[in-house]
Amino acid sequence: MDNSWYILGAGALGSLYAAFLASAGADVTIVERSTNRQGKPNGGRLAPERKFSVASSVDAINRAFSINTSQADNHSEIKHLLVATKSYDAVAAVSSVRHRLTRTSDVVLMSNGSGYQHQIAKAVSEPRYFYCLSTEGANWRSANALIHAGSGKSRLGGVDHTHPAEWFPFWERAIPGASWEDDIESALWMKLVINAAINPISALGGVQNGELTSDPALSTKVANLCAELSALTGASAYPQLAGDLESEVRKVIAGTASNRSSMLQDIEAGRPTEIDFINGYVSAEARRLEIPTPLNDALVGAIVELESTTNGKREIEANPK
Ligand code: PAF
Repeated sequence: MDNSWYILGAGALGSLYAAFLASAGADVTIVERSTNRQGKPNGGRLAPERKFSVASSVDAINRAFSINTSQADNHSEIKHLLVATKSYDAVAAVSSVRHRLTRTSDVVLMSNGSGYQHQIAKAVSEPRYFYCLSTEGANWRSANALIHAGSGKSRLGGVDHTHPAEWFPFWERAIPGASWEDDIESALWMKLVINAAINPISALGGVQNGELTSDPALSTKVANLCAELSALTGASAYPQLAGDLESEVRKVIAGTASNRSSMLQDIEAGRPTEIDFINGYVSAEARRLEIPTPLNDALVGAIVELESTTNGKREIEANPK
């Protein structure tokens, strides 16, 4: 069986998965794009390899890596692609390798949020699509030194097909905590609402996740937001998830108490956030299902406002869904 894996979006999480797959014997290549998401040249010459070290409690990846790179506009076919870009960049990223994907290619989408998946499938319809919902924690200590901050789970599933992919047994060996979910769509919804409950409140407060329960005012805000998200979930395709929603959110807060959420990290780094694909998507679904979500909608506005003060300008388009 072909055991090559291409990685689009070799940030901290993409590089961690590159390390897991390479350590287990896959032929891993990081895809480099010659232009950024605004279509401007990235500049510089492509190095033939990306070198980085990983510090991890998982022995197999606790070492140095040298991963081959390939320009997106190269022509060799891609059989297996893992997409770990930011959600607002995912459509452009997959489109940049469209000419290398065929009906026998498998694409695993791992970006946060919802909405972008359908945009990709519409723009690039050839491959089969899968989701990977990851709770692994990773961050860069320096440009080439990756810290595997927390071992999590990787829940995988197929879009419109329930059987495990042929390559899944390899992932199971390569990635601790990898599991197959027949109903990945409902797991994706749960992850969306958990992100919607935690990310904007932590980013606006500038606090670690744990403060969302230890600070009484923030805790009340989380409870009120969970009530809205729960009403929306009740009217969604996944009503069975509505009852447990707040307790699931509180469990994730407890399990990630010392994390700074991805949205807070984006704000602190002056990057655009994924608000359009998290709470923005929730607002769009709420409008479609005619469920009022005023607190969620206000949080979208507040994060957009905060982004404009930290970024200078907002460069991404609103979620068109
Ligand atoms: O986006 C994030 O930061 C994470 O998905 C989560 C679960 C909110 C924990 O920080």
